[in-house]
Amino acid sequence: RTESIRNICVVGAGYVGGPTAAVLALHHPTITVEVLDKDPSRIQRWESPHLPVHEPGLDTVVRIVRDGAEMTEETILSLSSVPTKRRQNLFFTCESAKSIARADIILMAVNTPTKTFGIGAGCATNMTVFDGAMREVATHAKPGAIIVEKSTVPGGTAERVRKMLSTLRPGVPFEVLSNPEFLAEGSAVKNLTTPDRILIGSAPTPSGRQAAQTLTNLYAAWVPRDRILETNAWSSELAKLVANAMLAQRISSINAISAICEKTGANVNEISDAIGRDVRIGPQFLKAGLGWGGSCFRKDIASICWICESLGLSEEAHYWRQITVINERQRQRFARRVIDRFDGNLVGRKLAILGFAFKKNTGDTRESLAVDVIRMLLEERPAEITIFDPYCREEDILRELEPAIAQVPHGDMSIVKIHADPYLACSHAHAVLVVTDCDQFRLSKRSSMRSDLDSVGGCDVTGTAHTGARSWTHAGVSYQLAPQAKCAGDCRDCHMILAPQSEAIEWPRIAYNMEEPKWVFDGRGVLDVGGLEKLGFRVDAVGRAN
Ligand code: UGA
Repeated sequence: RTESIRNICVVGAGYVGGPTAAVLALHHPTITVEVLDKDPSRIQRWESPHLPVHEPGLDTVVRIVRDGAEMTEETILSLSSVPTKRRQNLFFTCESAKSIARADIILMAVNTPTKTFGIGAGCATNMTVFDGAMREVATHAKPGAIIVEKSTVPGGTAERVRKMLSTLRPGVPFEVLSNPEFLAEGSAVKNLTTPDRILIGSAPTPSGRQAAQTLTNLYAAWVPRDRILETNAWSSELAKLVANAMLAQRISSINAISAICEKTGANVNEISDAIGRDVRIGPQFLKAGLGWGGSCFRKDIASICWICESLGLSEEAHYWRQITVINERQRQRFARRVIDRFDGNLVGRKLAILGFAFKKNTGDTRESLAVDVIRMLLEERPAEITIFDPYCREEDILRELEPAIAQVPHGDMSIVKIHADPYLACSHAHAVLVVTDCDQFRLSKRSSMRSDLDSVGGCDVTGTAHTGARSWTHAGVSYQLAPQAKCAGDCRDCHMILAPQSEAIEWPRIAYNMEEPKWVFDGRGVLDVGGLEKLGFRVDAVGRAN
């Protein structure tokens, strides 16, 4: 039962550890949750008003559990089933020995990247940080503590950890559980508060199952019990890898189809829509683009390949490896199309890259899709490549880019410039390449409803109040009110305005300042091709024959 749990220690104050600890603390005010990290600056950031992880809703949760902030009516409503009787119960610390020794449950949430050296380089998981943290846990944990793998680890790790513990602390009882995280960046708090499922893998022994029950009870405070699955540890560890591999496989499958579309008359977006309506297939993760990026898919597929190879399953390893091969091909084909549109000669051309993060609405540059594209374009020695991303920090972009540019013969970093202003980035460019599906990059065309506004002044994207007309043109772009919009001719009354577009890119302005031939390459298939063409752009979009 959870009454016996007083202290939880989360090892690793990263993307997984921080939000997981905060949500656990939120649902269990009687339990003290401590997040442990070796890096004092990271701990300081978690203790400051500016958290090191930006996730919608996370600030609110942290303010409640870390600072003891009052829960407003709004938060009570949005965080339903959260106990309102509260105390401060989330803490961040570098004092590992004390924190581990106090804990009834220890969650391991340290990073487990792909190995870059020795046997299994590029495939196997680098367990150095995990093993180091485990040794510390083994030294200080109290007898009976439950140790939980949150980090993504190779199958069989729980078994290996059990052996490690029995060597370092012979005769001391510990249980090791696998409880992988399924958080996606940008929706971590939502994934934690309303998970599709919680997976708990344990040893097939009475004490193993009892430990799994304890963790189940902890989650059951807010997760319906039928969403909590108990399995053996191997299944749980492998299921995490398989979930990511299957998502990546769907994207690679549709991307392989996009290659057919580009050579025929088919449109990949229409195909995704058509097949996604089959309930057996479903619509998610069928968006063709430049491939999948991010820190997880590549590493988890590599890990599956390594498992297959270690088991002598070379055909199966080959199957999974192809998913990564197709993923890389997608970027090669895209860069090739850009080069071909300039008759194979980029010398003297300026190319602007919009988007550097691995997916929309995040500043995470790890496994950025832009890196490969930029590397391939640089080989053609353009005059300049500029980059704009509304979310990424310059230092993060440079960290990802510099090693890639170093591989290019005569690769010159001074050709690449990072801009904080999209119009400067695109000014005098011969081509704009949309690499991330950021909402800001879409051509704003349709109106949207804002019922939350009482009064609205001058309102549309053009900055001029509309006049009651249901459609109008500004700078060559057609705007139309949504059919349900009731416009009384005075925006102060109608409550219907175009979506606030202050941050949205003004494509007419970009068109005005670009050089012929004004190409827009849509690497995410998210732009309104017809609308852009009306503005005088030539448009080439992924998955379409143009
Ligand atoms: C992914 C999984 O979605 C999470 O469930 C998992 O917990 C997480 O990895 C992890 O293992 O930590 P994340 O990497 O944040 O989450 O990103 P996704 O939203 O899955 O997107 C991955 C990549 O696929 C992005 O580059 C995205 O732009 C791309 N993508 C996604 C497509 O190209 N097409 C799609 O239809 C969907």
